Amino acid sequence: MSLILTAAEILKVLDMDLALAAAREAFLAYGEGRVNMPPKAYLSLAQGDFRAMYGEIFLPEAHVCGLKWVNVHPGNPQVGLPTVMAKILLNDPETGREWADMDGTHITNYRTGAAGGLAAAVLSRPDSRRLGVIGAGAQARTQIAAVLKVRPIEEVIICDCALARARSLVEETAAAYPVKVTLAPTPQETAQAADILVTATPSMAPLVSREWVRPGTHINAIGADAPGKQELDPAVLAAAKIVVDDWAQARHSGEINVPLSRGELRPEQVYGSLGEVVAGKKPGRERPEEITVFDSTGLIIQDLALGWEVYRRARAQGWGEEKDFLGLSS
Ligand SMILES: NC(=O)c1ccc[n+]([C@@H]2O[C@H](COP(=O)([O-])OP(=O)(O)OC[C@H]3O[C@@H](n4cnc5c(N)ncnc54)[C@H](O)[C@@H]3O)[C@@H](O)[C@H]2O)c1
Repeated sequence: MSLILTAAEILKVLDMDLALAAAREAFLAYGEGRVNMPPKAYLSLAQGDFRAMYGEIFLPEAHVCGLKWVNVHPGNPQVGLPTVMAKILLNDPETGREWADMDGTHITNYRTGAAGGLAAAVLSRPDSRRLGVIGAGAQARTQIAAVLKVRPIEEVIICDCALARARSLVEETAAAYPVKVTLAPTPQETAQAADILVTATPSMAPLVSREWVRPGTHINAIGADAPGKQELDPAVLAAAKIVVDDWAQARHSGEINVPLSRGELRPEQVYGSLGEVVAGKKPGRERPEEITVFDSTGLIIQDLALGWEVYRRARAQGWGEEKDFLGLSS
């Protein structure tokens, strides 16, 4: 039997504490070599793309494999649809039997936010008080939720090229958290004010110049997750300790993909992976004045670790619909 879980059922289980714990397990497993994860495969389309992501992870109490089918269509908000929508299948690696067939949209957003929170916990200055966010979409919301869990943020500064979206996130954030929330007119004001900067746009050209980034800043570079995308001036990367989520994916489609392909950055300038830092194999932040960048492309093991926890809790609550797709029990 497979458990079918809709977005509404998944939202009854999901919260940022669960997502942060699952992210830690996923990146620890990565750092300790307990994952099997080929790079994601892309289907390019005229208006966006699809990705097939599949892999296996050995969690402390479960061995899980599975598949995510996820799109990115940046024009979707104009037609009332999310930019990113996803489906996740969870399977038993021992037999291949399907455990769950679940919406993956909110799991994607939460696990992406949680990876940003985890990166901030090991790479940002512990006294970081001002969070700057460029791009006020779905990923911005979970980045804010996660960073506020790990650092004593007092002010969130938000900008978006679509003013209405920036305003709506300013109102939402001010209503949800006891922090000052400011609308910034440009990426420059946002970056200059930030101790922690999140970039979460589908930009194909740098939005953040080197001279705007103060010593000691940590950047979660979230938006670049396909070939040709970039949000940071390559000079920001050259000045930073760069931590990727996965070297193969980051080289192909992360923030480093364009500067590497143009010779503006060398592979040896990449410091390591978040998994290595979480597993204690490499130090995270070492000096207060360091600039650090987390280059996030999104890993299937993040989806599997969080998807498994959601599935486990939903099943225990009796939520979702059991379905015998193959007719094995008839
Ligand atoms: N790293 C990961 O794991 C991961 C996961 C999911 C999505 N993403 C990527 O993150 C990006 C954002 O995804 P989303 O779901 O938040 O999309 P979204 O459409 O909900 O939000 C993107 C926002 O960026 C704004 N924007 C676009 N160009 C801008 C610019 N030049 N300056 C300022 N704002 C700009 C848009 O107006 C929009 O509000 C996409 O590129 C997506 O592919 C990455």
